Amino acid sequence: SATDVVILGAGPAGLVLGNLLQNSGIDCVVLERAERAHIQTRARAGFLAANTVRILERHGLAEGLHRSGRVHSTCEFRTADGRFRLDYGGLGRGERHTVYPQQQLVTDLLTRFLASGGRVDFATEAVAVLDTDTDRPSVTVREADGHPGRWAARYVAGCDGRHGAARRSLPAGSVRRHHCDHGVTWLGLLAEAPPSLDAVGYAVHERGFAGHMARTSEITRYYVQCERGTPADAWSEERIWDELDLRMRGTEYGPLHRGRVVERAVVDLESDVLEPLRHGSLFLAGDAAGLVSPCAAKGANLAVLEAEILAGALVDDLVHGDSEGLDAYSARCLAYIWRAQEFSHWMIRLLHGPSGSDGTSSFHNSLRRSRLTSLRTSRSHQDWFAEHYVGV
Ligand code: APR
Repeated sequence: SATDVVILGAGPAGLVLGNLLQNSGIDCVVLERAERAHIQTRARAGFLAANTVRILERHGLAEGLHRSGRVHSTCEFRTADGRFRLDYGGLGRGERHTVYPQQQLVTDLLTRFLASGGRVDFATEAVAVLDTDTDRPSVTVREADGHPGRWAARYVAGCDGRHGAARRSLPAGSVRRHHCDHGVTWLGLLAEAPPSLDAVGYAVHERGFAGHMARTSEITRYYVQCERGTPADAWSEERIWDELDLRMRGTEYGPLHRGRVVERAVVDLESDVLEPLRHGSLFLAGDAAGLVSPCAAKGANLAVLEAEILAGALVDDLVHGDSEGLDAYSARCLAYIWRAQEFSHWMIRLLHGPSGSDGTSSFHNSLRRSRLTSLRTSRSHQDWFAEHYVGV
């Protein structure tokens, strides 16, 4: 089969791109390894930046999030020195988040794409992207029935995440991977419990970090820092809640609303960036382009932004014969990606200290305390924080 653009992956990046190309009359297909029901129910991120909402509005894709997303603009830090809140909606550029679970956004994007005549091949795994240094690349696939298949195209958009076929198909030495292991591990939890505070909660505790993020009125996401190598099922639910309560300082600020832990996963905080985001006729977007640690909720927001930039550039090229946008794609996106990486790295260092009792760790932990004091007391620090926390 042949088309203009083959899109690998039906996540936020692939589906925003698909919708925008479809709206401009460009022929494309989305190849997705998972079943439809899986991508529509997979719980992932949930904080949409103001710019992400503007992008989705611009292309008529924001109906669902306006209907059931909730505006959010407060975070609370809890430390040994007390707690403080930042109402970031009134700081920096005055922007807010919209809390809207990613699987709902994916469902909206998919529904719209299919309704406008788009084609998604589910349960179809891209195996390799070939001939990317020509203007006739192709993608080999394993179809739902197990048979091999092949798609030819003018361009391929790799929106298939960090373990996808796009990354795997880059010829050795063609693209550089900048990588950072932050040396921090989280146990990420989804609890059937209402939120315990009306803010995102960040607890800085000598036993490690704990985080609280509302999802819906019945579901809350929690993170608790643990030792590297801890199996996901190592902690009993009771231990999880006790540890969360301790680090969130429940005795001082009120106990957490407990509930059944319905999902858990261990996450080693890692980041990487590929450079450039293009090899010939293959372009990378979303997690395939770079992985931002979940610390500042940038991943999905970058994915949407990159998809919009790539769509514009592909339309310019395929409809108007102007390839300037495609030539500039990588540099444009990398500027946003590194800004997000820098902020997220700063957040990681703010929220996690080195363990141990030697001079170096106590030095770094005192620096961290001072950094938190700046954030608590200095308006210019708070404005800077707000601008980068919500911005992309
Ligand atoms: N062939 C086809 N599809 C694939 C393949 C493959 N070989 N490998 C992966 N996929 C699919 C996955 O099943 C998934 O649906 O690609 C999709 C990638 O989607 P996401 O992982 O959501 O990535 P992306 O669109 O880049 O969104 C990025 O969302 O929640 C955040 O933290 C997350 O930062 C991430 C962001």
